Amino acid sequence: MSQTTKPWVIGNWKMNLDRRAAEILAREIADDPSCRAKIKVGLAPPFPYLDRVAEILGHGPVALLGQDLHPEARGAYTGSVSGPMLRDMGVTHVLVGHSERRRLHGEDDNMIRRKISAAVEAGLTPVVCVGEDLAQRESQQAMTTITTQLEAALAADGWPGQGETLVAYEPVWAIGTGRVAGREQIIEIHTGIRRLLPGHARILYGGSVSPDTAGPLAREKEIDGLLVGSASLTATTFLAIVKATTPA
Ligand code: PGA
Repeated sequence: MSQTTKPWVIGNWKMNLDRRAAEILAREIADDPSCRAKIKVGLAPPFPYLDRVAEILGHGPVALLGQDLHPEARGAYTGSVSGPMLRDMGVTHVLVGHSERRRLHGEDDNMIRRKISAAVEAGLTPVVCVGEDLAQRESQQAMTTITTQLEAALAADGWPGQGETLVAYEPVWAIGTGRVAGREQIIEIHTGIRRLLPGHARILYGGSVSPDTAGPLAREKEIDGLLVGSASLTATTFLAIVKATTPA
């Protein structure tokens, strides 16, 4: 973690929780003083709960994220949510290219490029997610895969722009599996990503981050923050990660 900029901790709730549980969790996080100092905390609730979570977070320091967006701003796209709609709800950042979208919704690099452009156009900061799957890792194709993903992202209109450039490295084999990538693996990929991006990019790590692994990960100079899935679903585990990530 760099000494000068605040590390990020983003909780991606995915398709979990109900309205009541989302409200309670958002409130516990918003009210906790550890989410204020020396750290940037963000929450990505399911779309139907965005409005309620936005109300709870108010104008406080915790950022509101979308988990995804449609590449078009409006139109006949049943079931989809656009960048301007997210913006309207108080969202400031949006995950783009999460491996679950790539894998389960068939989103290719071209679609992800369009979504990044749409996010920028709507005034949202995209958190561009990249990562290799197990077969690519085992055949030494991890960095090649990520390079292809990033080159597509870099072809998006207006990205990276003047604001903060956020990329999340999430090895697919580490997501929801309890397997965290090794220190050398993460450093190698983060260094490679940094080389491909102009200017000062912030590179987050994601994949089975827990209160136990957050501290050692956060102390790595090459890791600028954490993207947390399952461990973001309870205030106890999420706030423990926030505390472990906060610089001394
Ligand atoms: P996980 O998910 O922490 O449950 O592995 C991470 C992610 O998908 O962002």
